[in-house]
Amino acid sequence: MKICLFGSTGLLGSEFKKLFAAQNLNFIAPKSNDVSLLKHDKVLEYLKTEKPDLIVNCAAYTAVDKAETNKDICFKLNAEAVENLTKAGIPLINFSTEYVFNAPAGLEIPEDYARDPQSVYGQSKAKAEAALEASEGDWWNIRTSWLWSDGSNNFVSTIKRLSEKYDELKIIDDQIGRPTYAPELAAFVVEHFVKPILSSEFELSSNSVRTRIPDKGHYHLQNQGVPVSWAGFAQYFLNQTGWHGTIKKISTEAYGAPAARPKNSVLKNTKLADQLSDWKTRF
Ligand SMILES: NC(=O)c1ccc[n+]([C@@H]2O[C@H](COP(=O)([O-])OP(=O)(O)OC[C@H]3O[C@@H](n4cnc5c(N)ncnc54)[C@H](OP(=O)(O)O)[C@@H]3O)[C@@H](O)[C@H]2O)c1
Repeated sequence: MKICLFGSTGLLGSEFKKLFAAQNLNFIAPKSNDVSLLKHDKVLEYLKTEKPDLIVNCAAYTAVDKAETNKDICFKLNAEAVENLTKAGIPLINFSTEYVFNAPAGLEIPEDYARDPQSVYGQSKAKAEAALEASEGDWWNIRTSWLWSDGSNNFVSTIKRLSEKYDELKIIDDQIGRPTYAPELAAFVVEHFVKPILSSEFELSSNSVRTRIPDKGHYHLQNQGVPVSWAGFAQYFLNQTGWHGTIKKISTEAYGAPAARPKNSVLKNTKLADQLSDWKTRF
């Protein structure tokens, strides 16, 4: 059994790469320089040669604000490249985001909630989801939100770095969500998706009945616990570092980012019995 991991240098993909290696899973992780998902024919040729049993796609254009002016590349990588992967005829785990929704405050968004993306990034990810739905192959699209890790380029690391320099930080207080710890998400996906899919592929090829594999479709996975704003989230982990500064809560409008962000980023997992842990337990 072989896994092909795209996006292995990114925030989430690097966690999968570590896990696959630690668990001795057989995988290939081509770098974007070697196999760019933008080159459709080359990607299909590569997959035909390598013959993986499962694709885990963590590659994406995630610069949400830049996407507003770089629409073309954003759609090419987030939507067209995913549609191309569906043509390989290989089971595919893809990742998406709550940016495909525009849900009212207070709602825990279920997997079948209607898409209504408000930004170019959200529209590109929504287009990928539509391509998955139109494909006849096996696919699992995992929507998540507010990813962070122990690495150096995410909300937690950035805010901690800024807190060492400033006594006051202005942070948005009117977007409500739940942060997701990327190493935990990756471990959960390995146990609940990757391993069952690989073992069912193995069973299929030895003519056994297909079992345990989650139904194809959309899944919502984020850490559980009480939803929080970005300001509340920052306050929580900064309290633990002993920082004595002040967080000035600001509105999305006052922050003035080019791309629209969902005010509600709370995703509900209605499909799997197991959940990720409370986000607070990760600090
Ligand atoms: N970060 C979040 O908060 C968040 C929240 C919700 C959902 N998601 C979704 O989760 C997934 C992973 O996000 P992430 O934050 O881990 O992304 P990321 O850190 O921005 O990483 C993106 C990855 O895509 C690769 N890539 C870029 N151009 C490529 C190309 N032409 N061909 C192949 N690979 C290419 C990058 O490789 P190079 O380094 O070589 O360019 C990098 O490994 C995405 O689907 C994203 O939409 C993320």
